[in-house]
Amino acid sequence: MRPEIAKFKTAILTISDRGSRGERQDLSGPALNERLAEDGQFQVVLEKIVSDEPAEIEAALIQWSDQQAVDLILTTGGTGFSPRDLAPEATSAVIERPAPGFAEAMRAESLKITPHAMISRAVSGIRKSTLIINFPGSPKAARECLGFILPALPHALLKLAGDPSDCGS
Ligand code: MTE
Repeated sequence: MRPEIAKFKTAILTISDRGSRGERQDLSGPALNERLAEDGQFQVVLEKIVSDEPAEIEAALIQWSDQQAVDLILTTGGTGFSPRDLAPEATSAVIERPAPGFAEAMRAESLKITPHAMISRAVSGIRKSTLIINFPGSPKAARECLGFILPALPHALLKLAGDPSDCGS
């Protein structure tokens, strides 16, 4: 916990054709929100549901990183093998610096729970001063994956924001 310092500004983007049409209740966005609240170091300032259309995904990611300058964007859904699962492609199109460690860690840890973890094509990377990370679409999977990377997120976000201190000091 960093009570003396502002919380990390965080945005959650749910990616789902059916969710964007109101045909499915959004449960993975709230699951991520809840897990962040339990941690206490993050403030969710923006939340939105978009379709699987890459242009819609890219527009939200660009606006939130360039205009809103949030510290962190979590996307949920659209990382699998279905024809409309295009979150990784849309994210890769806007990322300026890949940061694959987060997606790698989620897959590695998730494989200890289910072999289906290898189906997630999630990517992670940096645009401007925003870290963008894809999560799977099921609330259970999203929550599990966030738990795996939370221990490294504060240090990563402080470095991204320009913290000049030596690592490990
Ligand atoms: N990761 C964890 N930790 N737990 C899970 O249950 N489910 C997998 C995988 N990653 C899962 C997981 C499954 S079944 C799929 S199809 C992929 O994430 C992709 O999910 P998505 O298409 O909803 O993004």
